[in-house]
Amino acid sequence: LSPFPRRSADEAPSSSLNLSHRLRRNRKAEWSRRLVQENVLTVNDLIWPIFVVEGASGRTPVTSMPGVERLTIAEAVREAERAAALNIPAIALFPYTDPALRDPTGSESLNGRNLVCRAAREIKKAVPAIGIICDVALDPYTSHGHDGVMDGDRILNDETVALLVRQAVLQAEAGADVIAPSDMMDGRVAAIRAGLDQAGFQDVQIMAYAAKYASAFYGPFRDAIGTTACLVGDKRTYQMDPANSDEALREVALDLEEGADMIMVKPGMPYLDIVRRVKDNFAVPTFAYQVSGEYAMIQAAAGNGWIDGERAMMESLLAFKRAGADGILTYFAPRVAEKLKNQG
Ligand code: PBG
Repeated sequence: LSPFPRRSADEAPSSSLNLSHRLRRNRKAEWSRRLVQENVLTVNDLIWPIFVVEGASGRTPVTSMPGVERLTIAEAVREAERAAALNIPAIALFPYTDPALRDPTGSESLNGRNLVCRAAREIKKAVPAIGIICDVALDPYTSHGHDGVMDGDRILNDETVALLVRQAVLQAEAGADVIAPSDMMDGRVAAIRAGLDQAGFQDVQIMAYAAKYASAFYGPFRDAIGTTACLVGDKRTYQMDPANSDEALREVALDLEEGADMIMVKPGMPYLDIVRRVKDNFAVPTFAYQVSGEYAMIQAAAGNGWIDGERAMMESLLAFKRAGADGILTYFAPRVAEKLKNQG
């Protein structure tokens, strides 16, 4: 029995609501949905973070990031070639540093022939067209896993910044096109800018991790670079409180004033409100990092058959665009680029 019974033959069917707006009309067919689509994800939006490790050849899987491997420099060069062939604009390099080379001040960061510097050099030589982004922070090199030098349990700001400037200049010398300070020390963008300029690297860009939160979602990354076991305490005296949003605007404002060319919000998915506020307030190149834990969640659920991983990947990245991001650092980058290419 119909819940909307007709009264008589000449009366309009009472099942029809008298609506002036039916938003479903534009959704009725694929061509129409494509026509009214507001945001689009392209390969130009992708930055691919990769992990490099010492060794002659080979790859080692990162257990907590299914599908991600640590690459030797030779493999990293190969992957950079693949990324360039896929038209991915840039890659970001992160080192797994031999624990024997880590010390309290992260002195390996000031070795111009460290893993990241050699990787950057080799990649620049083999694949000059791809952008190389190098993270500036001490955590891959410190025995305590913090992003700065310590005095007791305090992370020293100004002493750390002095080291970061030297690290940045060495990375620029090695071929980094973009320096990405991820340490969250105060004043580091201005200091790094001055240091780069003084060393003749006026054209090296700075992508500041401006609003970087003290997040549980970095867990798998710390496995990947081998700092999980050594990290003492947490990073809440320098990374931001997840409760705060106005403070993110202040962080971004300062980094821009200090000379950042691009700014980043991190993590990504739980912080899309921050991406939107930043983009609306500053209208500058704004990036977001879909971090290791976000990647791991999608991969874990997909691996268990609980979600459609392919669709979740695409939807999550489109959501960054909708929030106003100009680009996304994502471990899915090569997979997405392949998919977009095959879609034509
Ligand atoms: C290091 C750094 C971190 C990430 C990027 N750079 C970890 C941290 O701050 O502990 C996280 C990236 C990810 O989780 O994918 N300063």
